[in-house]
Amino acid sequence: MTHIPVLTKEVLEYLDPKPNENMIDATIGEAGHALLLLEKTKPDGRVLGIDLDAKQIEHAKIQTGNFSKRVVLVNDSYANIKEIVQKNNVKPIFGILLDLGYSSWQIEQSTKGFSFKKDEILDMRYDLQDSLTAQKIVNEYPEREIIKILQEYGQERFAKQIAGKITEQRNIKRIQTTFQLKEIIEHAVPKKFQYGRIHCVTKSFQALRIAVNRELDNLASALPSVISVLSPGGRLVVISFHSLEDRMVKHFFKNKEKEGVIKILTPKPISAGQQEILENPRSRSAKLRAIIKNEKIEV
Ligand SMILES: C[S@@+](CC[C@H](N)C(=O)[O-])C[C@H]1O[C@@H](n2cnc3c(N)ncnc32)[C@H](O)[C@@H]1O
Repeated sequence: MTHIPVLTKEVLEYLDPKPNENMIDATIGEAGHALLLLEKTKPDGRVLGIDLDAKQIEHAKIQTGNFSKRVVLVNDSYANIKEIVQKNNVKPIFGILLDLGYSSWQIEQSTKGFSFKKDEILDMRYDLQDSLTAQKIVNEYPEREIIKILQEYGQERFAKQIAGKITEQRNIKRIQTTFQLKEIIEHAVPKKFQYGRIHCVTKSFQALRIAVNRELDNLASALPSVISVLSPGGRLVVISFHSLEDRMVKHFFKNKEKEGVIKILTPKPISAGQQEILENPRSRSAKLRAIIKNEKIEV
């Protein structure tokens, strides 16, 4: 396992798990955070772990083996959290963690084509039951749709040029691998912008991953359900790695606070400190926001 959980101290501070409380790790991944929650909720608190990627559920099962009696693992989307909680009868819930995006294992070892540093089949699905793959988008979507994906989810300034090159090249040969796509993007981006602070391919790969897994749609549809399954006095922590996600979480929390449903615990998002960024560069773009659900709804 390769994933180092981010902002662990802050997750524990804001979720504040106590003995015997039930928690949900809605993106359990390799269970780094979940193990900390299991320690803090001893002896009888249960942790419901959800992940869209069946392999991650296997990893979480191995990692949490010592706590198996207190762990329930479900291979599903957190967008279905309401149904999952009902079905598995884990109540009341005092804390929920959403640690969004992908894990290091997925990018480095899943062989699903998340990274342009390895020559793999362009897939990028967390959920292999889903029919939408990155290959399908680049080979079958209209050019204007590809431009939209690159602009919206990647904030890629050369979206038009890249989408143009993709549609030109796919007519010659189907784009099947990460290296094929990487080369196409490199040819589309003007030479002087190819060697910036981040690799010129990074944003397009990110945008495709978000589109394939409908990451923003899932988050938008999940947030109200997440609040609804939380017990009064329960806490929610969301860690995001993308400005669009963070903005969505921020506005959702503000509206819910206005409605008197929650209280925001983090007026400004919490970021990793210098030491954590040094030890785990992935934490650089992490933003943590937390709320507590009001005991009595004031509307
Ligand atoms: C950043 S990782 C979580 C890492 C975890 N906190 C740990 O400490 O190991 C994000 C996880 O969310 C999962 N994921 C992405 N979208 C999801 C969704 N809609 N529902 C459930 N899990 C999802 C990914 O498969 C990945 O395993």
